[in-house]
Amino acid sequence: MKYIAIITGASSGIGLEFAYAIDQCMASIDEIWLVARRKERLEDLAGKLTHNTKIICGDLSNRNTTNRIQANLKSDKCRVRFLVNAAGYGILGDFDKCDRKDETGMCDLNVRALTDLTYVCIPFMSKGSRIINLASSAAFVPQLGFSVYAATKSYVLSFSRSLNMELNKKGIYVTAVCPGPVKTEFFDVAEKNGNKTMSLKKFAMTTPDVVVKTALNDSFRKKEISIPTFTMRAFRVMCKILPHNVIMKVTSMLYR
Ligand SMILES: NC(=O)c1ccc[n+]([C@@H]2O[C@H](COP(=O)([O-])OP(=O)(O)OC[C@H]3O[C@@H](n4cnc5c(N)ncnc54)[C@H](OP(=O)(O)O)[C@@H]3O)[C@@H](O)[C@H]2O)c1
Repeated sequence: MKYIAIITGASSGIGLEFAYAIDQCMASIDEIWLVARRKERLEDLAGKLTHNTKIICGDLSNRNTTNRIQANLKSDKCRVRFLVNAAGYGILGDFDKCDRKDETGMCDLNVRALTDLTYVCIPFMSKGSRIINLASSAAFVPQLGFSVYAATKSYVLSFSRSLNMELNKKGIYVTAVCPGPVKTEFFDVAEKNGNKTMSLKKFAMTTPDVVVKTALNDSFRKKEISIPTFTMRAFRVMCKILPHNVIMKVTSMLYR
């Protein structure tokens, strides 16, 4: 039996940071599987890790990539100790002005692929296994100019919370990670149509190491939600107290 960690989005940002952190603190894991499209990046990362690695290069929007992971799990007789679903993207801009493929692609990757890979991995998990899903603070309230992205992250948060309760009886724990803005390549993709992120958001920017350290601690403490910064914890409280229409109107004024 081989004990493994699977990390999607491992070629950049938060997923990459998870790979380093799991490599450093998980001596009980035999192999780390790194999943993303950019092969050179994954090879470069694999060369820097102390664990054995398996590189799974592929587009997760395409079902074949998840099917390949499933086939490998079967043939390698694996136990998945950690699944980190970090692959994801967002595109800023009004829904009807953005590219159709980009908008539906967010649903394919952030929602469908995350759900499918989680489904495929659960039969290979056992007591003590962990799932960490990258949601976002965008999950707390609908976001104008980021409508599809925020909706996909609301899905991830809702799905993770109920799945956590369903799997608790098996001793498997799910944590939804809800950071605010994080300094990664995420914004290069998000702003590709020239729509800029609200400057207030950039002021609240944190770094991937803070997100990952908090997420791993929260996962070990069996917490269903991990919010790495005080600002975003305060934002969540605000979203619970204030009517969402008010928050949406204020944020839309800050945008335009
Ligand atoms: N940065 C933020 O402000 C922020 C805040 C809250 C939540 N998040 C969430 O955190 C997660 C990680 O984001 P990040 O900030 O680390 O962004 P990032 O640096 O842009 O990393 C995104 C990762 O997703 C992978 N990816 C993208 N499309 C893919 C596809 N079709 N198939 C397979 N892999 C794909 C990319 O690898 P390849 O391009 O090599 O495939 C890359 O490794 C995302 O789910 C994001 O929504 C980010």
